[in-house]
Amino acid sequence: MFFLGFARDIMAEAIERVHTGIPGLDHVLEGGFPKGARVLLAGGAGCGKTICCGQYLYKGATRYGEAGVYVSTEEPPQEFNANMLRFGWDFKKLQTEKKIGMVDAVYQRTESESAEQESLQSILYNLRSKLAEVKILVEQLGATRLVVDSLPGFGFRVTDLNTLREIFLEVGLLLKDVGCTTLMTTEIVEGSGLISRYGIEEFLATGVMVLALVRQSSPIRKLYVRKMRGTSHSLNDFAFTIGHDGVELKGPIGVRSASRQRRLHSPRRKRGSRR
Ligand SMILES: Nc1ncnc2c1ncn2[C@@H]1O[C@H](COP(=O)(O)OP(=O)(O)OP(=O)(O)O)[C@@H](O)[C@H]1O
Ligand SMILES: [Mg+2]
Repeated sequence: MFFLGFARDIMAEAIERVHTGIPGLDHVLEGGFPKGARVLLAGGAGCGKTICCGQYLYKGATRYGEAGVYVSTEEPPQEFNANMLRFGWDFKKLQTEKKIGMVDAVYQRTESESAEQESLQSILYNLRSKLAEVKILVEQLGATRLVVDSLPGFGFRVTDLNTLREIFLEVGLLLKDVGCTTLMTTEIVEGSGLISRYGIEEFLATGVMVLALVRQSSPIRKLYVRKMRGTSHSLNDFAFTIGHDGVELKGPIGVRSASRQRRLHSPRRKRGSRR
């Protein structure tokens, strides 16, 4: 038994971990994301994906001395900056200090009015030049953390599945090339039964975490780790909150603590009996 535990400890240590910056999450992931992992953060609208991404980059830059790059395909960086400032995270300052880089890829949404007619060649040409921008910024800053928020944003207005596959293939190649520990988001369309917008995004990922907002008697935010290569992790749902300091993981949902279970299952003591 001792040797088994010892061997497990050595194996866990062999993989370098990157702190997530989210209180409680590192503990679930044996210390953090595996270095170089590409983690898909999937969830419905307003589940907290962007805040998790911001927290990962902000804490990385300010607490762990790791520069990062944020690629936005959904909201302009100014909007992201303003939202993050609500948590006291000053991304503009970090940009000035060259600890964070921003790539505005929202152009996909505004400039490709006629994307339906746009040729695959021209879509890929635009995409490649944007991805080249990401690569240059990663190299300039020596960034080890990367966020792509969101992946489906790269394929906005594209309806052809083959074109989408090509787009994600290009993005996947860039992610492997830069070698950062990457957090990328995708949306879950309610009732679709899929864990991503197109059912393709997860193939780029070495890890998948799913966020949800459940409305039972009281609304509750929850997260579960669906896959994380090289990591022995719980498959439980974990409750999380979004407060003044950002996202914080709470305990597992529906799992009683060991001490409570012992209390519940131990035979009841008779009144007046001594311990
Ligand atoms: N300052 C704050 N304090 C507490 N909760 C907040 C704060 N700002 C936002 N929220 C909560 O977080 C939600 C938005 O989180 P976020 O933008 O990360 O979601 P998302 O999953 O990225 O959404 P989308 O699908 O629109 O991209 C809001 O709907 C709100 O419930
Ligand atoms: Mg978002």
